[in-house]
Amino acid sequence: MRSAALAWLLAALLPGLAMAAEGRQVFERRCASCHAAAAGGPAGAGPNLAGLIGRRVAGDPEFDYSPALLAAGEAGQAWDAALLDRFLADPEEMFPGLWMGANGLPGAADRAAVVAFLAAMRPHSD
Ligand code: HEC
Repeated sequence: MRSAALAWLLAALLPGLAMAAEGRQVFERRCASCHAAAAGGPAGAGPNLAGLIGRRVAGDPEFDYSPALLAAGEAGQAWDAALLDRFLADPEEMFPGLWMGANGLPGAADRAAVVAFLAAMRPHSD
């Protein structure tokens, strides 16, 4: 009984952990030149993304966002996995006037991995 519960737990957790590890690699290649993902990370060309999931859009108080992102945040929009996935598929389409350039992720597997990675980055972990 106990080992069945353990097996179930591992089966539920491991794919998510493996995906987050893969997402860290994609993030480092495609996003880290502009974004920190650890709380208190160095300021870059883009906002800090620690604790992004659950945070409102344009929610890094240290960052000067474009009017396009500020308006979405003021309208009450917040990041969840589905919104982040759609954003990365075509950032400019979701927020016309965004200052991120063409830096989304066209591959669905890459997006899923980066979403899992960012979901695992709590505000106070590094
Ligand atoms: C060339 C620099 C650059 C790269 C590369 C880049 N971004 Fe960004 N990103 C920005 C900038 C600048 C903003 C703020 C845009 C604005 O204010 O319009 C931003 C905004 C964001 C936001 C909104 C954050 C918030 O606080 O609401 C998310 C999410 C995001 N980027 C994720 C990513 C991910 C994931 C990647 C990698 C696939 C990535 N970005 C690659 C520069 C970049």
